[in-house]
Amino acid sequence: MIAQDLMDTAHQLVGGGKGLLAMDESTPTCDERFAGTGIPQTVEARRAWRELLVTTPRLGDSISGAILYDETIRQQKKDGTPFVKVLAEAGIIPGIKVDTGEEDLAGYPGEKITEGLDGLRERLRDYFQMGARFAKWRAVVSPAEGLPSRGCIEANAHGLARYAALCQEAGLVPIVEPEVLMAGEHTMERCREVTEETLRSVFAQLSAQRVLLEGMILKPNMVLPGLRCPKQEGVDEVAAATVKCLRRVVPAAVPGIAFLSGGQPAELASARLNAINIISMSATARLPWALVFSFARAIQQPALEIWRGRESCVALAQDTLAHRARCNRAALHGEYTTAMEPA
Ligand code: G3H
Repeated sequence: MIAQDLMDTAHQLVGGGKGLLAMDESTPTCDERFAGTGIPQTVEARRAWRELLVTTPRLGDSISGAILYDETIRQQKKDGTPFVKVLAEAGIIPGIKVDTGEEDLAGYPGEKITEGLDGLRERLRDYFQMGARFAKWRAVVSPAEGLPSRGCIEANAHGLARYAALCQEAGLVPIVEPEVLMAGEHTMERCREVTEETLRSVFAQLSAQRVLLEGMILKPNMVLPGLRCPKQEGVDEVAAATVKCLRRVVPAAVPGIAFLSGGQPAELASARLNAINIISMSATARLPWALVFSFARAIQQPALEIWRGRESCVALAQDTLAHRARCNRAALHGEYTTAMEPA
């Protein structure tokens, strides 16, 4: 029964031609983004921003699920309505980030390990009771000069798989997010190699931990050149490299792949997602998974820059957020064009 519920939830998240809104920034990350736009870094400012997000009119037209953070899943609108209820009424499934962030990986200078397994079984039980039906855990892999090490890839893949198995035991669909970072000078080809090696290890560990592939979602990076790489490939080349990489390593049983944006400019992320879906639709053998989005910055950032903490700008910021969500929804159908963007 749990297996069927997991498969149904996964299908609702990725199978309806919509994507996910990641609004699960930890408090330090949210505060950092607020500081960058001159917003006070307070509990109330974070609550107000999250209220703006979840009350955006017609958000549910483009968004199937929203990933919350521990602080946010416990918060309410100003009128006392819990955010989880607001989302559910908009037809959006609430999810929850459950890792507790990255720490230095002992013995591997420059590399990180994601923490959060201690007490996770109990936390998952609590989150399920609060209304969450899926979860997220992010692990980071750096492709900087001389990295990543095998030790880092395997330790993080093992953590992701242990987390995913615990989620499924608790009735939550695990979003498995191994992110090869964009920062750096590495080439797109190097990103493809590292992404491929990482995903191979992740799926080996998921299998070893008996994770039901049909009841999970993969959240990878697109295959991209490093931000400081002198050669920046075009949208179609990025899409081709991404599809090539995923084809080699992601089992067909996985229902969906929901890309993170990783700091890409919002419009470029939409264009790349669109090109990926055009390949999927035109492939002689159609790709087996839904290819959707689970963006944070590429959906939120333009709206955050309009809001800047001002009550008078809530409606315009919500329009901007809904617009980005619509653009990304169009990209799932290969229907996004830059003509959708304001002049
Ligand atoms: O863990 C990262 C978020 O879920 C995705 O964020 O789209 O800004 O990379 P991003």
